[in-house]
Amino acid sequence: MTATTLAQAIKTRCDWLDSTGLDIALILGSGLAGFIDNIDHAIVIPYSELEGFPHAGVEGHQPDLVIGQLEGVNVAVLGGRAHYYEQGDAAAMRLPLETLKALGTHTLLLTNSAGTAHNGISAGDFMLINDHLNLTGANPLIGESSNNRFVDMSCAYDIELQSLMKKAAKESKITLQQGVYAWLSGPSFETPAEVRMAHILGADAVGMSTVPEVILARFLGMKVIALSNITNAGAGLSDIELSHEHTQNSAASSADDFKRLITHFLKLL
Ligand code: HPA
Repeated sequence: MTATTLAQAIKTRCDWLDSTGLDIALILGSGLAGFIDNIDHAIVIPYSELEGFPHAGVEGHQPDLVIGQLEGVNVAVLGGRAHYYEQGDAAAMRLPLETLKALGTHTLLLTNSAGTAHNGISAGDFMLINDHLNLTGANPLIGESSNNRFVDMSCAYDIELQSLMKKAAKESKITLQQGVYAWLSGPSFETPAEVRMAHILGADAVGMSTVPEVILARFLGMKVIALSNITNAGAGLSDIELSHEHTQNSAASSADDFKRLITHFLKLL
């Protein structure tokens, strides 16, 4: 199934899309799927009804495409993502992103859960990603043959959207860190030496997602903004045992602030 065909099928279930279009699309990170409940007039389409969409098989993600309004803004929300570590496919989110593009999305807000790479950032913080390190060696555009594959990544994270997010944080009285996100493949967590390495290389947070989607979205010409929900100190930086359950619980405990921040950001768009 092509993105254009999928977009047509989605439009038949959501008739206002053709006239007003989408203002923004969101991809939700681990433990943040509850955000979907906030959407007004929601049309919920399970990925299983969208041929070629991933079977997002990670607990804490909700494999639904939800289209509706939030603060009067027309949004499409992907409640789950496929990760590189699931099948070794860095381009697993290509069709969903192409479909969002075919639906007329020009702006993508990505969220994730991440660990810290040093003690200047704490669990419970939100971090605006202003750049990234791809430490996996993988790239979703490997195999792409058009010259568009040579994507300029020097301003991958949109400066104006970053300013809006900082304004939203200030006005909502939510502390917002900013920094560099390092993508490591997972699914095992990093070793303490890997977290030290990431920090030495310039990372502020470590995680297992988002970067391939940023590359794909820039390839497709979308503006990108990305936000990490810092769920834990990176390996070696605290005594707390790392687990997916801990990530999910920790993400869920900041879900209210996350909702406030994103909602305020949408108001400013
Ligand atoms: N490392 C990688 N990914 C993560 C972490 C982490 O410490 N926490 C949440 N996602």
